Amino acid sequence: MVTYKWLAFVAAGRLAAAWGTDTEDITYILPIYEGALANDSRTNDLAILNGMKSMLGVGGANTKLGFSFSSWCLSRDVSSAANNFTFDPTNLNYVLGLAVDLDLPILVHANNGRWADCCTSNSDGGWNDALLDQIAAQPDTTMQNSAGDSLYGHDYGSNYFSFSRYNDYYRSYKRRNLQASMSTIAAWAADHPTLFAGISLDSETLYANDAADYNPLIVQEWKEWMQNTGLYGAGAAYFGQGRVPAFTSIDDFNTATGQSFASWDDVTPPAPLSQGNPFTEEWQRWRVQAIVHTTSDETSWIVEAGIPRNLIYGHQTPELEYYNFGDDLTTATAAFGAGGYTAYGRAPLDFQSIDTPLRADGTNNFGLFELNPLSTDNTFSYDTLTTLWSDGAKILCPNAFENVTAKDQYSLFDSPTTGDTWGNNINAFLSAYANTARLQQPPGWNPGNKVFDLYDSFSDATESGPDNHIAANGSSGGVAVKTVYEAVGGVITYSIDLPSVSDGQRLNFYAAVGIKDGAGSGGGTATFQAAINGDSLLLGNGIIIPPTYWTWKHWLPVMADITAWAGQTVTFTLSTTGNDYYGWTQWGSPAIYQTPNGASGGDTSSSNLALDKVVSASSNDKSAPGGGWGTAYLTDGNVRGDSASNGWSSVSHDSSSATEWVQVDLGSSQTVGKVVLHPRSDITTAAGTGFPVAFDISGSTDGTTWTTLSSQPSYGASIKAGRGEVITFESANVRYVRLTATELSGVGGESGYRVQFAELEVYA
Ligand SMILES: *[C@@H]1O[C@H](CO)[C@@H](O)[C@H](O)[C@H]1NC(C)=O
Ligand SMILES: *[C@@H]1O[C@H](CO)[C@@H](O)[C@H](O)[C@H]1NC(C)=O
Ligand SMILES: *[C@@H]1O[C@H](CO)[C@@H](O)[C@H](O)[C@H]1NC(C)=O
Ligand SMILES: *[C@@H]1O[C@H](CO)[C@@H](O)[C@H](O)[C@H]1NC(C)=O
Repeated sequence: MVTYKWLAFVAAGRLAAAWGTDTEDITYILPIYEGALANDSRTNDLAILNGMKSMLGVGGANTKLGFSFSSWCLSRDVSSAANNFTFDPTNLNYVLGLAVDLDLPILVHANNGRWADCCTSNSDGGWNDALLDQIAAQPDTTMQNSAGDSLYGHDYGSNYFSFSRYNDYYRSYKRRNLQASMSTIAAWAADHPTLFAGISLDSETLYANDAADYNPLIVQEWKEWMQNTGLYGAGAAYFGQGRVPAFTSIDDFNTATGQSFASWDDVTPPAPLSQGNPFTEEWQRWRVQAIVHTTSDETSWIVEAGIPRNLIYGHQTPELEYYNFGDDLTTATAAFGAGGYTAYGRAPLDFQSIDTPLRADGTNNFGLFELNPLSTDNTFSYDTLTTLWSDGAKILCPNAFENVTAKDQYSLFDSPTTGDTWGNNINAFLSAYANTARLQQPPGWNPGNKVFDLYDSFSDATESGPDNHIAANGSSGGVAVKTVYEAVGGVITYSIDLPSVSDGQRLNFYAAVGIKDGAGSGGGTATFQAAINGDSLLLGNGIIIPPTYWTWKHWLPVMADITAWAGQTVTFTLSTTGNDYYGWTQWGSPAIYQTPNGASGGDTSSSNLALDKVVSASSNDKSAPGGGWGTAYLTDGNVRGDSASNGWSSVSHDSSSATEWVQVDLGSSQTVGKVVLHPRSDITTAAGTGFPVAFDISGSTDGTTWTTLSSQPSYGASIKAGRGEVITFESANVRYVRLTATELSGVGGESGYRVQFAELEVYA
């Protein structure tokens, strides 16, 4: 049983009670029920939901039935224009009251993005588009195409407002009403701790199409982001969240993107998009980043309203192989919270291409916030549930429990296309898994103690395909990792004696997958697969990476449970297939890990060699804005900062060119091969900032003579609060590990440059 630190964080006021769930061993099945309206008959709503309980069964101690519904704080649940459209809690309180009467746990979809008025302008119960229409009528509030036409559509999930942080008119209403709605839920949850499962963010925060968004505010923001000026400049709220590295001149930009603009004022985004073209890639990079900013800001607003960050889930429809919507997998994890997505009709074996990276990136927690196999096949439907359960999903929201005369295809029962198939299989699953504890997953950056290193053992492997090789320098994202480069169409085969396990221990395969820089466009996707004994596939139908997923993108972490083969000698293969245009695909630091004894597969913190060890630094600014700074907080095990124990901050410098170092004394010489750097992650606009641009990691046995373990001249990855940056290198035996930064980053709200981290971890 893992106790989560947020329980200690929310010590103030009524939140002192242990609310939400204090254990991670519950799986929630929360069908979407949008039928409830305050002006419905309460008797009727209770009858329908009691009907749902009897038709699906309520599960047991570990797998529980509840329901989910949306908060419509920008449409239905607003007051009149005369009252400036303030949030009206009547409907929300009504539905929360139903949950109490029925003793059913709930999740609330904070559905105030493109689906802010749900499905029609006047569906059951009547919707209210007055506020949305008023916002859309203001200058430059909506997404625009390259001709300047608004893409706002008023109905049917097309409330496309620009993601620009300059879109103040939209953001002020959204923030005010969202926080009013979330405060109502937080207060209710404090009184009903066992009934609150969480919040999902706006469903489908994405672009209308690839001809969006050319709104002048977001184009202006793009240019500022690229140059680290304006909103991203010194003294501004988001200083330190700009592009790394910043473009220092228009010539610098022209050279990188193959353009010939005379000045920054002349720069307009590419239209139409051309995949693999550097100019389009630069624009696409920003589009993805703008979504990350949007979901991060939304998460911060919800946390400010009193909901713990662990219980806030992303809600995207990520498809790595598609370009149009900017809906990259990296957008699907809330910056301080958990991951989530929507899936309709997805085959069970296709879930892993999303689940595996999402789980490895988003700690122990992710969910499916709209889910329907859309199938009449019982096996397909049941396997959808068991696959997601095995993958470690915590919340599943089957869509939908309807009790209307004209049911649509999504209905659990009486669907015109799938009949009762989905409902019947949920019923069977709730019964079979009622008292089976949820599978806990260690965080992706710490899968346990390393027991076999596929990089170190490369010379003992057999290979097919030309020129497979290794290098302690992966090129994806500019991050140095121990990389196995594999020819596309190649297979690399290892023989491995897997250790036996006891007492809840797990064996995990972990790697970060990527494509070598500069592969460019012109190919289809590449698919990564790992297998045991030839035919046991570890990654479902494979992890699919598109031709655009290169250079500036993160490595995609993947983790698979291989405990079933513990104690056996197995053949283990890495393979990639797809278009050979890539040259090489990359397996970053592939290795097998074992979780500690008795850890229920989850608590791997003891393998962090730096935990609670003594830290010293070139400077130590305990009074830096944000609070909770000090060297001791760098190794206190709290990877998500707060004003009581935020992390370590250097002093501020006038220039980014300054040197600061911080080091940890491991107490004795140890084998080290990995450092994980957790960005500043307190809930402020400054979250994620202070992460150095150029730094070295070095090791020493005596604290005097240092050897460089990893050199990072331009850490170009997109830093995200809540996600650890994993840096692996050739193993070394050292007592002291030091990070020396030589180019610092800005810090939100300040004008100077610092180095700040929430946590520094060291692993074998
Ligand atoms: C749907 O609602 C009607 C009452 O309006 C009720 O008779 C019927 O049992 C309900 N069905 C379900 C599945 O709840
Ligand atoms: C609820 O109110 C809306 C208008 O606000 C109306 O259109 C709808 O018929 C009402 N529903 C019920 C069940 O009374
Ligand atoms: C109406 O509410 C918005 C959003 O909070 C706010 O920005 C605006 O100032 C308010 N207008 C008036 C007249 O109070
Ligand atoms: C790492 O790889 C990149 C690109 O492949 C190369 O430019 C760089 O020189 C390499 N660095 C080291 C230290 O080998």
